[in-house]
Amino acid sequence: MSTLRIRKAIIPAAGFGTRFLPISKTVPKEMLPVGDKPVIQYVVEEAVAAGLTEILIVISRGKEAIPDYFARNPELERRLEASGKGALAAGLRRISEMARIHYIYQHEMKGLGHAVLQGRSFVGDEPFGVLLGDTFISPETDPAGTSATMSRLVATLEDRNTSAVAVEPVSAGRVDRYGVAGGEEIASGLFQVREMVEKPEPAAAPVIRLLSDGGGESRHYAFAARYVFTSGLFAELERTPPGKNGEIQLTDAMTALKDKEGFHAVALDGTRRDIGDPEGLRNALNSLELEANLRTV
Ligand code: UTP
Repeated sequence: MSTLRIRKAIIPAAGFGTRFLPISKTVPKEMLPVGDKPVIQYVVEEAVAAGLTEILIVISRGKEAIPDYFARNPELERRLEASGKGALAAGLRRISEMARIHYIYQHEMKGLGHAVLQGRSFVGDEPFGVLLGDTFISPETDPAGTSATMSRLVATLEDRNTSAVAVEPVSAGRVDRYGVAGGEEIASGLFQVREMVEKPEPAAAPVIRLLSDGGGESRHYAFAARYVFTSGLFAELERTPPGKNGEIQLTDAMTALKDKEGFHAVALDGTRRDIGDPEGLRNALNSLELEANLRTV
């Protein structure tokens, strides 16, 4: 029986957001609104729903709108209450109180692996979750709701004592945009990972062999912005040499960790909404609008 219990999460949100220029010069992409809240709030809510209430958000210069958003503003709350808008004040308090949120600066944007490494002293020797700050997961049944993906990852680490990553099927033509996992399905939606490759050429991309159809079918699966790790990840990140653009690749450290401790993957529950570029944001907005229209019919 495992003794690992997760309560901490790191949310990297320090990236330049070059695909969102010029807006991202002054507005962090993680603060862009989808429906009635910014993307980063969906991400924090996913962590909290999985029991991860100690959260470290990795930011960079110019991203102070994120801590401002989650900070309490007692003066504003008092004014709202005095003018009969108590519900609005309570809503603001809820945003600030749903988790204990801490912040750290990544002074140089040396990639996702480097961003996660900034959380080393916050995490200590506990297991932890990682949720990319510019991506949220919409449950199929309710695009504005909270996906069970993070909870499944937490359960996987607690049951099996290994790190794990959420994955979703991806066509061969798109594997060169993502980290891609290879291995085999060991239970419905749970995979043993044997191989990981960052942005592979289609011909070299690993596959996961599925249990269905007598075990014959194989598919490409891409990493989907949600992870749980043992604290062993940090030693591997420290050892990972910078790669392309001087960036420390999370996938390289994950591969080293897999070789030492084993690694699992779980099927994404819902749809990944990556708002890192305008097309992704448009898709997320459209899906929410569609859902709102269906509700009013
Ligand atoms: P992305 O690669 O999508 O973000 O990283 P980016 O670097 O901001 O995007 P572009 O390419 O310039 O448009 C995914 C997540 O990791 C964070 C980002 O903020 C985003 O939430 N990240 C990325 C960091 O925190 N630090 C980094 O050095 C890189």
